[in-house]
Amino acid sequence: MLPRMPMAPMAPGFASVVPPRVAADLCGRLKARAKEGLVSAEDVAAVATEVGVPLSHAYVALGGEPMLQLRIAKAVQIAACTGACQAKGSMALLERLLELKAERAAAGQAGIEVVPRGCLNLCEQAPALLSRSDDGVHPHPRVRPEDLAELVAALCED
Ligand code: FES
Repeated sequence: MLPRMPMAPMAPGFASVVPPRVAADLCGRLKARAKEGLVSAEDVAAVATEVGVPLSHAYVALGGEPMLQLRIAKAVQIAACTGACQAKGSMALLERLLELKAERAAAGQAGIEVVPRGCLNLCEQAPALLSRSDDGVHPHPRVRPEDLAELVAALCED
């Protein structure tokens, strides 16, 4: 059995929009639903509803737990930083991505998966995203929420 790695320390002065007690509750509920460390997007939505928090907060909790991963079935994945970049605009990106995901599903368009990550190694270019599609893996530095619809449409080749 591999040794359990310690959690990375939070950046100095970093305060998540999700209070630690709420994040721990969300994490515990996600772990209870996990199968072999994987949870579905439906699990994340169900846990947010159970706790009565915005969907983005459940994604923040998931992104902060390295022992849990999102089960990904969609061809286009967009990773958002749910770590220290919350203070640099990443929460607005995460919330807009989740809106676009829901809008696309309602419209019957090709789906996207929104993937929370504690860090994308793009800290100096925050708020940033990392996409994975048929075109490969690409960083998207200094993204604005108002640019996301166009970016998602391009990745999905609408
Ligand atoms: S903490 Fe957000 S990209 Fe590193």
